[in-house]
Amino acid sequence: MLFGPPGAGKGTQAARIVDLTSKPQISTGDMLRAALLEGSELGKEAKSYMEAGELVPDDIIIGLISQRLKVDDAKNGVLFDGFPRTIAQAEELAKIAKVDSVISIEVPDDSIVQRIVGRRMDPETGEIYHVDFKPAPESIIDRLVQRKDDNEFTVRNRLKAYHEQTSPLAIWYENQGLLIKVDGEQSIKDVGDEIISKLSAR
Ligand code: AP5
Repeated sequence: MLFGPPGAGKGTQAARIVDLTSKPQISTGDMLRAALLEGSELGKEAKSYMEAGELVPDDIIIGLISQRLKVDDAKNGVLFDGFPRTIAQAEELAKIAKVDSVISIEVPDDSIVQRIVGRRMDPETGEIYHVDFKPAPESIIDRLVQRKDDNEFTVRNRLKAYHEQTSPLAIWYENQGLLIKVDGEQSIKDVGDEIISKLSAR
């Protein structure tokens, strides 16, 4: 499980872990954005929460995860990215799956706003870029998009939600001996190296 504040680098590091382990990445943020694009009932329900930078209610998220874990590719383990986000979600998860490791990417709030406001996505490949820290190749710059919730106002609310509702999970998993802390302020490569070396040492 990849854990950390918005913009900590969970999605960025997930790509490398998926390459190494061949386990599917399950990102509740990506699933909700896909529902929103499809215009499904779920997407309509989630929209206002996401645009305000608030957490989507637990029952919606738990329903989404229960369905996703029934898909065949989840049988041999998965990489959660951005789930669980509340103690209630973690308690529900504990009833249906065993958590092996929780990688906490630690980044202070001061760095988060800059990371999120400068993030750009390639809609064709899903690759995540940053205008300063991971510039995209010139040839694809015109097709890059910015997430609607990647603005300074929403980021502040997302950070508030993180500190109030999500960060208590770190202690919850630490008490279970599952938390692996990683310094998220290093380069993208060094963060990945630290994750791999700490996971291998377990
Ligand atoms: P979600 O999509 O999960 O967003 P998030 O947690 O806010 O995380 P992000 O995707 O913003 O950041 P990230 O950590 O993946 O960082 P990234 O790798 O992109 O959720 C969106 C919304 O959906 C929530 O607000 C909520 O409403 C709802 N939601 C989702 N899950 C939910 C749940 N379980 N319960 C309830 N509601 C839920 O990196 C960010 C930027 O930094 C990129 O530009 C990247 O290039 C750059 N970067 C990465 N690493 C580094 C580095 N080491 N140095 C410099 N730059 C870096």
